[in-house]
Amino acid sequence: MKRILFVCLGNICRSPSAEAVMNYLIEENELTEVIECDSAGTYGFHAGQMADRRMQEHAIKRGYNLTSIARAVTQRDFEDFDYIVAMDNSNYNNLIAMTQNEKEENKIIKMTDYCQNTGADEVPDPYYGGEQGFENVLDILEDATQGFLNKILKDIN
Ligand code: 4NP
Repeated sequence: MKRILFVCLGNICRSPSAEAVMNYLIEENELTEVIECDSAGTYGFHAGQMADRRMQEHAIKRGYNLTSIARAVTQRDFEDFDYIVAMDNSNYNNLIAMTQNEKEENKIIKMTDYCQNTGADEVPDPYYGGEQGFENVLDILEDATQGFLNKILKDIN
């Protein structure tokens, strides 16, 4: 079993969406026995909350149901997960700062490293912006998760 943790700042917009898009792909490809996803935030302020309502509304229009409850990243996550996937450079740097050794550090990657079409460098924080920001998050995630799934399948085989 490969375990993936998607990480953003608040765990109420981008990383719950990444988790839902990835789970959709995992089910579509009959990989539920092989790959497992979770998400968390580097900042625990929204812990215990459902995903942001705006993010939920945009996601459901594309068939993604955001069910996760927000939580903060913990030290144990660096042991429990095989891939820790940052949405932006700030998330990436915060995660790196939490690691205790090279093995943990090597688990941290950026979501946009697996973009195949959009060419995005980060999944931008949509929290304080308008509707288009949420659509942009989903566009980038749909592109990147497909590329990321291909990478995991290569790692497994
Ligand atoms: P997320 O978005 O990191 O994609 O979940 C945000 C959620 C909350 C805040 C910022 C970004 N906030 O400042 O509360």
